[in-house]
Parts: sequence; C-alpha cells; structure tokens
Amino acid sequence: MSIRPAIIGNWKMNGSGRDVKLVRRFADFLDKQKIVADVMICPPSTLIDRLGEAIKGAKLKIGAQNCHIEPSGAFTGDVSVLMLKDAGAKAVIVGHSERRTEYGETDKQVCQKAQAVIGQGLQAIICLGETRQQFNKGQTLQVVGRQLRGSLPSTATPQNTLIAYEPVWAIGSGRTPKPADIIRTHAHLRKTLLKLHPKSGAKFRILYGGSVSAANAADILALENVNGALVGGASLSFKDFTAILKSF
Ligand code: PGA
Repeated sequence: MSIRPAIIGNWKMNGSGRDVKLVRRFADFLDKQKIVADVMICPPSTLIDRLGEAIKGAKLKIGAQNCHIEPSGAFTGDVSVLMLKDAGAKAVIVGHSERRTEYGETDKQVCQKAQAVIGQGLQAIICLGETRQQFNKGQTLQVVGRQLRGSLPSTATPQNTLIAYEPVWAIGSGRTPKPADIIRTHAHLRKTLLKLHPKSGAKFRILYGGSVSAANAADILALENVNGALVGGASLSFKDFTAILKSF
C-alpha cells in the first residue's frame, strides 16, 4: 500500500522575523518541484501567523510544537489549540521528548493534547522514542509500544494523526540507529497500530526523527514502514531541508 509521506520541520526554540524569507523560499521550492509528500514547518508559536500569511496558498503548511489541552483559561504562558488554529497552524507536535523530559509530560497528557488537537480539526504529530539507557538495555520495543498505546487517542485516524519515532539519543546528536533497528522499531509500531486500529492501522504515517540530514535522508526514507521524517536542525537550512525533500 502506498502511503503519502510527510516531511515535517521542527524549528524548536529557533527562528525570528528574519526567517520569513527562508520559509518563502521553502514554499517556492515546493511549488516548483514535483515532490510527492506533505511538507510542513513547525516554528515557534510567535511565527505561525506571520509565516502562514507569507506563504498563503502555497503547498507548504505551518504547524505548531505544543499546545494546552484547554481552549482558554487561567494558564499563564500557555497557548491553546484554538489559538494555534486561529493563527493558521494545521498541525501540532505533541509529546516531543524535549517536553516529556523537561516538563515531565506523561503519555496520558500527550494523549489529552492529541485529543484536543484532533478535536479542533488539526493533525496531531505524536512523538515517542526510547532513551539511550533504554536502548542499551534492549527495551526499545517495550518502551515505544507502551508510549504509543498510552498516547494515541481513540479518535485517531490516519488522516488526523501522525506518529513520529524519535530515539532520544539520536536527537541533535548526529547519531542515528542502524537501519535494521529503525526497521524493527517501525514494524513494531505498525503492529501496535494494527492492534489498536485493525481497519486503519496500516495507513497511519510513521515518521522517523533524530539527526535526519541531507546525507542520510534517502537511506532512512527508503526503509520499510518509514513514511517520512521529523527534521530538527536541518529544517533551519535551505540547502539541507530541500536536499531532504529531494531525497525521495
Ligand atoms: P534533530 O531533531 O533533527 O535536530 O535531531 C529532531 C527532533 O527533535 O524533532
């Protein structure tokens, strides 16, 4: 079965008004090239509106990196899905390992966030992945299986939800798992998706993330059950990100 891949750039806490130009260049590139993938940039919340306006009508979409589960209220410093939607976001990354680690986000909270995202008609990009220690102990499949079961809301469909497998130790480190390890983990996630959603489990996109670069993207994207990539650092560079887009 052919699944339309997705390439999603996660800018993390990087980017400013100066980067409107960069995103316009991404959008122009995507509109001119024949790239068979959904492509999105997830900038900090402060840039969603500006970038969305700058590329109106383009194939490139803009997403967000986190959200609160409530639509509004006394939650100083937080941003709701409703607000992100109003700003022009089409998707929200939830449960990124930096949030699970730095802010102690649990599978239950990630599930509630995904539910809130889906409830507003946006796509949830649910992240999961094992730590170096868990990898060394051979616990990867057990950990990601548990995270997927705990973080995936019952309302998830292949249209409204994407899964991103990101080994914590591969993020920003320049290191990636061996191809055989990526294949094994993605196969396990697929099997778990099929158990949870027997009818549609085969159609969910499972992205790989963690040190995806212009140099390794083609090899990683060709692996079985890898339906795209979540790209951090390389999505801040025109040369690197477009090279990744061209690597299908
Ligand atoms: P990286 O980050 O590509 O810089 O490793 C990926 C991510 O954290 O989403």
